[in-house]
Amino acid sequence: MAKHLVVSFPWSSDMALKVTNYLLSRGFNVDHVILETKQFPDGESYIRYPVDLSTYESVVIIQRAYPEQDRRLIQTMLAIHAAKDLGVKHAHVVLPYLPYSRQDRRFRDGEPVSLLTILSLINSLGIDSLITVDVHKPEAFTAECGKCVNLEPFALYANYIGSSWGGRPMALLSPDLGSLWRVEKTSKYRGISYSYLEKFRDRVTGEVSMKPKELDVRGKDVVIIDDIIATGGTIMEATKILKSLGAGNVHVIATHCLLLNNADTRILNSGVSSITCTDTVSTNYSVISVVDLIGEALAGRLVP
Ligand code: R5P
Repeated sequence: MAKHLVVSFPWSSDMALKVTNYLLSRGFNVDHVILETKQFPDGESYIRYPVDLSTYESVVIIQRAYPEQDRRLIQTMLAIHAAKDLGVKHAHVVLPYLPYSRQDRRFRDGEPVSLLTILSLINSLGIDSLITVDVHKPEAFTAECGKCVNLEPFALYANYIGSSWGGRPMALLSPDLGSLWRVEKTSKYRGISYSYLEKFRDRVTGEVSMKPKELDVRGKDVVIIDDIIATGGTIMEATKILKSLGAGNVHVIATHCLLLNNADTRILNSGVSSITCTDTVSTNYSVISVVDLIGEALAGRLVP
C-alpha cells in the first residue's frame, strides 16, 4: 500500500492534522509531519523536512498562505522542490487561500497578471495538483493550469444558513456582479431569493463605491456572500444600501477573511449582525471548515 506524507507549516498544522485524519478514515496510509522553519538573519526563508522522505509515494503540502503571503509562497516552493529533489514521486499542494488571485488580469497597462506568475512558478516545480478553495475567478485559475483544482464551499454555506437563520424571511446578496455566481449556487441548495449590487473600485486608491439599487429586502434578513473580506469596504458599502432599504439583520459569509486593520470591528459597527468565515485563513470567525472538501479532493488524487 502506498505511503503518503501530509506536510504542514506550523501555522497550518491544525488543518493538516484534520486532513490527515480524514484520509486515514478513508483507508489511506498517511503520516503527518510539521516542517521545520526559520528565517535567516538576512530575511531569507529556511525549511527542512524532519523525516526521511524516501519511503513516501507522495507529499501533500498544506500551507495557509495568509498572512505573510510572499514569504509563505516562497516556503511552499522550497518545500515542493525539496520533496521532488529528495525523490518523492508525487507532490500535491494545498493553498486553501491563493494569494495574488485577485490580480487575474491586467487592469492597468504595465501590470503583471500576478495570478499567472504565481501559477507558472508553482507549476514549474512539477506538482501533481494545486488545490485551493473558492478562488476569486475560477476560469482565470484553471484556464492555463490543468493541475489546478478549485473547491466550492457553497453547499456548506447553504447548510450553515439553514441551521443558523432558517425560518426567517431571507434574501442572499452578492456585493458585486463578480460574485453573483456564488449566491446563485448557494441559493440553489435552499431556494432563497437573491440579488446583487454593482460595485466600482478605484484601481489606484482601491476605494469602493456602489450604485444604489431597489432590492426586495424590506423586513428580510440578508446574507451577503463574498469570496474575500480584505479592507471591509465592500461589505460596509453593501450594508449601508441594505439598511437604507429597510433590511432586517445583515449577516456576512466570506470564504477568506483577511480582515485588514480591524475590518471586523468596522464591519460590525456598520450594522452587520454577524461575520462567518471559513478556516482557509485562521480567524475568530472561522466556524465553517473546508477540511472535508480538501480531504475529498485529495482522496480522489492519491494512489490508494
Ligand atoms: C472583489 O472583487 C472581491 O470579490 C471582494 O469583494 C473584495 O476583495 C473585498 O475587498 P474589500 O474588503 O477590501 O472591499
